[in-house]
Amino acid sequence: MRGMLSPSLMCADVLNLEKELTVLDNLGVDYIHLDFMDNKFVPNITLDTGLIKATKSVISHMKRDIHIMAFEPQQYFDRMEIGEGDVVSVHYEACDDLSEIFADIRSRGASPFLAISPDTKPEVLTDFFDEIDGVLVMTVYPGFAGRPMVEGSFEKLAAVRRLIDESGKKLLLEVDGHVSWDYCKKMRDCGADIFVAGSSSIYQKGLDISEAVERMTEMVK
Ligand code: DX5
Ligand code: ZN
Repeated sequence: MRGMLSPSLMCADVLNLEKELTVLDNLGVDYIHLDFMDNKFVPNITLDTGLIKATKSVISHMKRDIHIMAFEPQQYFDRMEIGEGDVVSVHYEACDDLSEIFADIRSRGASPFLAISPDTKPEVLTDFFDEIDGVLVMTVYPGFAGRPMVEGSFEKLAAVRRLIDESGKKLLLEVDGHVSWDYCKKMRDCGADIFVAGSSSIYQKGLDISEAVERMTEMVK
């Protein structure tokens, strides 16, 4: 499985999102990372449900990689128009009935992923390996772009990769948070498949987005 990029739209030029989406789509990027926050599970609000829904009318190749940092995430699925081909990550720490949520996501033709924050042990994931298509490992504390990577994140990524391989399940491993130029290759070596590219890489000031995407794609392939 080759490494794939998921640029984080909340780190792009928020005054020109349609253009940002079109550029990425034309570059053949695999995913677009759409962060949704409820200001309760995390103390921040970023992209809202209307904008997440509107992205469907702009992108044609990329898959929506929707990262829901919110309690009771199902209440937002209709407003986001969750559907065929979407990846939807919900947080272990924020949800009561994960099995019901995963079944709801699947019933809409989308792929359920389970996200864990830095303080959550990787072992909790294995109970849900039969119900999901991937896991999202947060290597920063969720809620804001530009945060430093949490100590021990490389080891945690490798541990999750081991758990997936031992299970024999074909699950994707997504890494989200401070996926920087310096760290992305090591994250790949630890077993990550999907890389959320944000303010510590392709959206750094002054970079040409096409060159940055090409460079990072090469680094994680
Ligand atoms: C933070 C979000 C991330 C964020 C990554 O809670 O989940 O997707 O955009 O941004 P950087 O790369 O700056 O950590
Ligand atoms: Zn995210």
